[in-house]
Amino acid sequence: MKKTNHILGIESSCDDTAAAVLRDDEVLSNCIANQKIHQSYGGVVPELASRAHQANIVPVVQQALSIANIDKKQLTAIAYTRGPGLLGSLLVGSAFAKSLALSLNIPLIEVNHMQAHLLCHFIKNDNHAPPAFPFLGVTLSGGHTQLVLVKSHFEMEEIGKTLDDAIGEAFDKCGKIMGLNYPAGPEIDRLAKEGNPNAFEFPIPKVAHLDVSYSGLKTAFINLVNKHIQKDPNFIEEHLNDLCASIQKTLVTVIMQKISQAKEKYKLDRVVIGGGVAANSEIRRVLSTKAKDENWDIFLPPFQYTTDNAAMIGIVGYHKLLQKKWATMNQTVSARLAI
Ligand code: KG4
Ligand code: ZN
Repeated sequence: MKKTNHILGIESSCDDTAAAVLRDDEVLSNCIANQKIHQSYGGVVPELASRAHQANIVPVVQQALSIANIDKKQLTAIAYTRGPGLLGSLLVGSAFAKSLALSLNIPLIEVNHMQAHLLCHFIKNDNHAPPAFPFLGVTLSGGHTQLVLVKSHFEMEEIGKTLDDAIGEAFDKCGKIMGLNYPAGPEIDRLAKEGNPNAFEFPIPKVAHLDVSYSGLKTAFINLVNKHIQKDPNFIEEHLNDLCASIQKTLVTVIMQKISQAKEKYKLDRVVIGGGVAANSEIRRVLSTKAKDENWDIFLPPFQYTTDNAAMIGIVGYHKLLQKKWATMNQTVSARLAI
């Protein structure tokens, strides 16, 4: 009889402390402690994030075990995020994971956070089979925007990236200009539903190869807002929905152009997205249209696996466990770990 594995996933790369328990590729629990403290600062404050991880990690792990109805002694392995991310945040998760693995005398597995954003599609899902290899992976998060040629679970090649801001960062910065709370992406998405995406026009930056750039768009957005505010101090309030819909459409158009180019250049049928911005309704709508009209085979992650979570760390842990890819106790975290 096949042995069942119980994997504890731990995620602490940025401002969410998360723990999940998987039984092989099936998620039994997926718990997240969000750090609200950063909202008033308009962005993540690294030092505060590390402290909050220290406060949250034990209760979140206990909650994940309790919901999964698993005693820690039943765990087969512990998977943790090694990078990329904020150094202080990563250190809390890795030190905790190492100590627990040592005390339970079970293997430790290190996980690349960006690989996990793409491999979350391998979590057991009754509605959708996982993508077959090779595929075009697109990471759309607050810290990264990458086009990735995914040849197998752990053979990934970055073929394009942002030269400056990540797409989520662009959403958040434009939101800040409009006075929205951090992270502004979900709020822009919501407000855009009532707005006209063609109300304002922003230039699409011309960038070579499969790279993108978002910092110029943020500047164009600030300039447009400032120009109108001079004539009408209530400009933002009066045009909030249209501003959100227009900037969202442009941010999505930029990455969609490169997705189409990459798909063609590398002759890939499947497009797989991951990361916080994979929750965005405009990118999901545009990709779904491509699937319908041009037969693209698209993979949109379930919402609970888009923004940072530990289930995605657990599923990578499961696939590394199958290949016996263990971490060593002297391995250090890496803020800039490549995919
Ligand atoms: O992957 P993630 O949780 O964290 C990083 O690894 O960076 O991504 C967070 C980003 C934030 O910038 C947030 O504004 C954005 O994802 N985000 C969204 C939506 N939901 C989250 N952006 C646009 N539309 C959404 N619905
Ligand atoms: Zn992330």
